[in-house]
Amino acid sequence: VDLVVFAHPREDSLCGQALKRLVDGGRGPVIVADLYGDGFSPVLRRSELATYGQPTADPLVAKYQRQLADAATATFVFPVWMYGMPAILKGYFDRVWTPGTTFAFHDDGVPTGLLKLRRVGAVCTFGQAQAFYARTSDPVQLFFKQLVSQNCGPDCTFAYEPLFGTDKPEAPAVAAYLDRVSAVLAGA
Ligand SMILES: Cc1cc2nc3c(=O)[nH]c(=O)nc-3n(C[C@H](O)[C@H](O)[C@H](O)COP(=O)(O)O)c2cc1C
Repeated sequence: VDLVVFAHPREDSLCGQALKRLVDGGRGPVIVADLYGDGFSPVLRRSELATYGQPTADPLVAKYQRQLADAATATFVFPVWMYGMPAILKGYFDRVWTPGTTFAFHDDGVPTGLLKLRRVGAVCTFGQAQAFYARTSDPVQLFFKQLVSQNCGPDCTFAYEPLFGTDKPEAPAVAAYLDRVSAVLAGA
Protein backbone atom coordinates (compact mmCIF):
# COMPACT_ATOMS: atom_id res chain seq x y z
CA VAL A 1 0.00 0.00 0.00
CA ASP A 2 1.17 3.52 -0.83
CA LEU A 3 0.40 6.01 1.95
CA VAL A 4 0.09 9.71 1.18
CA VAL A 5 -0.07 12.17 4.09
CA PHE A 6 -1.68 15.44 2.98
CA ALA A 7 -1.06 18.53 5.13
CA HIS A 8 -2.67 21.48 3.34
CA PRO A 9 -5.94 23.17 4.33
CA ARG A 10 -7.00 23.73 0.70
CA GLU A 11 -7.48 21.16 -2.03
CA ASP A 12 -7.28 23.86 -4.73
CA SER A 13 -3.66 24.62 -3.75
CA LEU A 14 -0.57 23.50 -5.63
CA CYS A 15 -0.19 20.84 -2.95
CA GLY A 16 -3.77 19.76 -3.69
CA GLN A 17 -2.88 19.36 -7.36
CA ALA A 18 0.18 17.33 -6.41
CA LEU A 19 -1.98 15.11 -4.20
CA LYS A 20 -4.31 14.43 -7.12
CA ARG A 21 -1.36 13.37 -9.29
CA LEU A 22 -0.17 10.95 -6.62
CA VAL A 23 -3.60 9.40 -6.11
CA ASP A 24 -4.32 9.13 -9.86
CA GLY A 25 -0.80 7.92 -10.68
CA GLY A 26 -0.52 5.14 -8.11
CA ARG A 27 -0.03 1.63 -9.47
CA GLY A 28 -1.88 0.01 -6.61
CA PRO A 29 -4.05 1.14 -3.72
CA VAL A 30 -3.22 4.60 -2.35
CA ILE A 31 -4.36 5.53 1.14
CA VAL A 32 -4.61 9.25 1.91
CA ALA A 33 -4.30 10.57 5.46
CA ASP A 34 -5.82 14.05 5.16
CA LEU A 35 -4.68 15.73 8.37
CA TYR A 36 -6.87 18.86 8.06
CA GLY A 37 -9.82 16.86 6.71
CA ASP A 38 -9.56 14.43 9.64
CA GLY A 39 -9.44 17.30 12.15
CA PHE A 40 -6.13 15.98 13.48
CA SER A 41 -4.83 17.82 16.56
CA PRO A 42 -1.05 18.27 16.36
CA VAL A 43 -0.66 19.15 20.04
CA LEU A 44 1.11 16.57 22.19
CA ARG A 45 -0.63 17.18 25.51
CA ARG A 46 0.51 16.60 29.08
CA SER A 47 -1.41 13.34 29.50
CA GLU A 48 -0.02 11.94 26.26
CA LEU A 49 3.53 12.90 27.16
CA ALA A 50 3.11 11.04 30.46
CA THR A 51 2.47 7.85 28.49
CA TYR A 52 4.86 8.60 25.59
CA GLY A 53 6.01 5.35 24.02
CA GLN A 54 3.02 3.38 25.29
CA PRO A 55 -0.01 2.46 23.16
CA THR A 56 -2.01 5.57 22.33
CA ALA A 57 -5.47 6.32 23.67
CA ASP A 58 -6.34 8.44 20.60
CA PRO A 59 -8.13 6.39 17.91
CA LEU A 60 -6.94 8.69 15.11
CA VAL A 61 -3.29 8.38 16.19
CA ALA A 62 -3.73 4.60 16.38
CA LYS A 63 -5.21 4.59 12.88
CA TYR A 64 -2.29 6.63 11.51
CA GLN A 65 0.17 4.25 13.19
CA ARG A 66 -1.54 1.22 11.60
CA GLN A 67 -1.42 2.93 8.19
CA LEU A 68 2.34 3.38 8.54
CA ALA A 69 2.95 -0.19 9.68
CA ASP A 70 1.12 -1.49 6.59
CA ALA A 71 2.65 0.91 4.06
CA ALA A 72 5.36 0.16 1.50
CA THR A 73 5.83 3.86 0.76
CA ALA A 74 4.92 7.07 2.59
CA THR A 75 4.77 10.39 0.77
CA PHE A 76 4.23 13.72 2.54
CA VAL A 77 2.60 16.59 0.65
CA PHE A 78 2.77 20.05 2.28
CA PRO A 79 3.55 23.73 1.79
CA VAL A 80 6.71 25.17 3.38
CA TRP A 81 5.71 27.64 6.08
CA MET A 82 8.35 29.47 8.12
CA TYR A 83 11.24 27.39 6.76
CA GLY A 84 9.61 24.12 7.65
CA MET A 85 6.49 22.00 7.59
CA PRO A 86 3.09 23.25 8.78
CA ALA A 87 2.47 22.71 12.51
CA ILE A 88 -0.17 20.07 11.77
CA LEU A 89 2.45 17.90 10.06
CA LYS A 90 5.10 18.48 12.72
CA GLY A 91 2.52 17.37 15.30
CA TYR A 92 1.79 14.28 13.21
CA PHE A 93 5.44 13.28 13.58
CA ASP A 94 5.48 14.19 17.30
CA ARG A 95 2.39 12.11 18.07
CA VAL A 96 2.41 9.26 15.52
CA TRP A 97 6.13 8.46 15.03
CA THR A 98 6.76 7.34 18.60
CA PRO A 99 9.14 4.92 20.34
CA GLY A 100 7.92 1.37 19.87
CA THR A 101 5.98 2.38 16.77
CA THR A 102 8.46 3.76 14.26
CA PHE A 103 11.76 3.58 16.18
CA ALA A 104 13.34 2.02 19.25
CA PHE A 105 15.85 3.57 21.61
CA HIS A 106 18.87 1.50 22.59
CA ASP A 107 21.05 1.64 25.68
CA ASP A 108 23.64 3.70 23.83
CA GLY A 109 20.93 6.27 22.99
CA VAL A 110 21.03 5.56 19.27
CA PRO A 111 17.58 5.02 17.75
CA THR A 112 16.94 2.36 15.13
CA GLY A 113 14.07 2.26 12.69
CA LEU A 114 11.13 -0.11 12.96
CA LEU A 115 9.25 0.79 9.78
CA LYS A 116 9.32 -1.44 6.72
CA LEU A 117 8.96 1.47 4.30
CA ARG A 118 10.87 1.04 1.04
CA ARG A 119 10.56 4.67 0.09
CA VAL A 120 9.74 7.99 1.76
CA GLY A 121 8.78 10.99 -0.37
CA ALA A 122 8.56 14.70 0.47
CA VAL A 123 6.53 16.73 -2.03
CA CYS A 124 6.57 20.34 -0.88
CA THR A 125 6.02 23.85 -2.23
CA PHE A 126 8.26 26.84 -1.39
CA GLY A 127 7.18 30.43 -2.08
CA GLN A 128 10.82 31.48 -2.29
CA ALA A 129 13.32 30.66 -4.99
CA GLN A 130 15.89 27.96 -4.32
CA ALA A 131 18.61 30.64 -4.33
CA PHE A 132 17.41 31.80 -0.89
CA TYR A 133 18.74 28.56 0.54
CA ALA A 134 22.18 28.83 -1.07
CA ARG A 135 23.89 30.00 2.13
CA THR A 136 22.24 27.47 4.43
CA SER A 137 21.15 23.90 3.94
CA ASP A 138 17.50 23.28 3.14
CA PRO A 139 15.90 22.58 6.56
CA VAL A 140 13.08 20.50 5.08
CA GLN A 141 15.44 18.14 3.30
CA LEU A 142 17.57 17.85 6.44
CA PHE A 143 14.55 16.88 8.56
CA PHE A 144 13.51 14.09 6.22
CA LYS A 145 17.01 12.68 5.81
CA GLN A 146 17.30 12.40 9.59
CA LEU A 147 13.77 10.97 9.86
CA VAL A 148 14.44 8.26 7.29
CA SER A 149 17.84 7.33 8.73
CA GLN A 150 16.43 6.77 12.22
CA ASN A 151 12.95 5.35 11.55
CA CYS A 152 13.38 3.22 8.43
CA GLY A 153 15.64 0.38 7.38
CA PRO A 154 18.97 0.92 5.59
CA ASP A 155 17.45 0.10 2.18
CA CYS A 156 14.72 2.74 2.38
CA THR A 157 15.20 5.46 -0.24
CA PHE A 158 14.19 9.10 0.06
CA ALA A 159 12.60 10.99 -2.84
CA TYR A 160 12.73 14.75 -2.38
CA GLU A 161 10.48 16.72 -4.75
CA PRO A 162 10.39 20.43 -3.84
CA LEU A 163 8.81 23.11 -6.03
CA PHE A 164 10.53 26.44 -5.40
CA GLY A 165 9.31 29.91 -6.38
CA THR A 166 5.53 29.50 -6.01
CA ASP A 167 5.24 33.20 -5.05
CA LYS A 168 5.78 33.91 -8.76
CA PRO A 169 4.55 30.72 -10.39
CA GLU A 170 5.47 30.00 -14.00
CA ALA A 171 3.00 27.69 -15.71
CA PRO A 172 5.56 25.51 -17.55
CA ALA A 173 7.60 24.98 -14.38
CA VAL A 174 4.47 24.03 -12.44
CA ALA A 175 3.34 21.62 -15.18
CA ALA A 176 6.78 19.98 -15.28
CA TYR A 177 6.74 19.71 -11.51
CA LEU A 178 3.36 17.97 -11.41
CA ASP A 179 4.66 15.45 -13.97
CA ARG A 180 7.68 14.74 -11.74
CA VAL A 181 5.42 14.26 -8.71
CA SER A 182 3.65 11.33 -10.37
CA ALA A 183 7.02 9.59 -10.58
CA VAL A 184 7.56 9.66 -6.82
CA LEU A 185 5.28 6.63 -6.46
CA ALA A 186 6.01 5.11 -9.86
CA GLY A 187 9.72 4.85 -9.01
CA ALA A 188 9.18 3.03 -5.75
C1 LIG B 1 2.38 31.07 7.08
C2 LIG B 1 3.23 31.02 5.83
C3 LIG B 1 4.60 30.92 5.93
C4 LIG B 1 5.40 30.81 4.80
N1 LIG B 1 6.75 30.65 4.93
C5 LIG B 1 7.52 30.42 3.84
C6 LIG B 1 8.91 30.11 3.97
O1 LIG B 1 9.47 30.07 5.05
N2 LIG B 1 9.64 29.85 2.85
C7 LIG B 1 9.06 29.89 1.61
O2 LIG B 1 9.76 29.62 0.63
N3 LIG B 1 7.74 30.18 1.45
C8 LIG B 1 6.95 30.43 2.53
N4 LIG B 1 5.61 30.67 2.38
C9 LIG B 1 4.98 30.61 1.04
C10 LIG B 1 4.37 29.24 0.79
O3 LIG B 1 5.39 28.27 0.69
C11 LIG B 1 3.51 29.28 -0.48
O4 LIG B 1 2.32 29.97 -0.15
C12 LIG B 1 3.18 27.89 -0.99
O5 LIG B 1 4.33 27.28 -1.51
C13 LIG B 1 2.15 27.94 -2.11
O6 LIG B 1 1.82 26.60 -2.49
P1 LIG B 1 0.37 26.00 -2.17
O7 LIG B 1 -0.56 26.52 -3.27
O8 LIG B 1 0.51 24.52 -2.25
O9 LIG B 1 -0.04 26.51 -0.82
C14 LIG B 1 4.79 30.82 3.50
C15 LIG B 1 3.39 30.95 3.41
C16 LIG B 1 2.61 31.04 4.55
C17 LIG B 1 1.10 31.15 4.41
